[in-house]
Amino acid sequence: MTVQIAASVLSADFAALGAAVAAVERGGADLIHVDVMDGHFVPNLTMGPAVTRALKRVARVPLDVHLMITDPDRYIDAFAEAGAAMISVHVEVLPHLHRTVHAIKALGVKAGVVLNPATPVVAIEQIAADVDFVLVMSVNPGFGGQTFIARSESKLKEVRALLDRAGNAAAPIEVDGGIDHRTAPRVVAAGARILVAGSAIFSSSDPEQAARELKAAAVGALAAPAPAR
Ligand code: DX5
Ligand code: ZN
Repeated sequence: MTVQIAASVLSADFAALGAAVAAVERGGADLIHVDVMDGHFVPNLTMGPAVTRALKRVARVPLDVHLMITDPDRYIDAFAEAGAAMISVHVEVLPHLHRTVHAIKALGVKAGVVLNPATPVVAIEQIAADVDFVLVMSVNPGFGGQTFIARSESKLKEVRALLDRAGNAAAPIEVDGGIDHRTAPRVVAAGARILVAGSAIFSSSDPEQAARELKAAAVGALAAPAPAR
């Protein structure tokens, strides 16, 4: 399994999303990460299906839609129609997670489940065999530019072990929050294979080059021994 970079446009200039997508694609980003927030599950408000559809028109790489909303079941169809290739939903808001995961898959979209930093891995034990990927939050969701929570490294290892035990070795782990050139090698060593990065890319004066460097750091860590702190 290789390492992919998912560029989060949350930290991009919303007046120039097309240019932002083009730049990170030139830099080798594998996915465009779309952070959907409802001002309820998380304090912030961002974008919805209309912006996702607009991104789909310009993006050449797949769209990875991260739903930070209280009632994702109501909007899954809309995001699938808007062009999402991957949709992830938070376990904290879903009493019928099995139904939701299979509803996403039935739309031909890859289904992911997301764990907040304080949510234990056991919350996904019964769904681990069914998911296409797991997203481990390494910050509390809601904002870009936060500091990576170091405890996430052992959580990534725990999720990897769970997926393997469940016979789902093919499902990658995505990690989201505080990923930069310093944390990227650490999360790769812990088992992450999709790295979301917002501010590390878009707060740079050269997002294309920042994406390229982050990808090199992540891919380089695949072959390297575990990094020193
Ligand atoms: C945070 C979002 C992230 C965000 C990450 O709630 O889910 O995708 O864009 O931003 P950085 O990479 O700046 O931590
Ligand atoms: Zn996200």
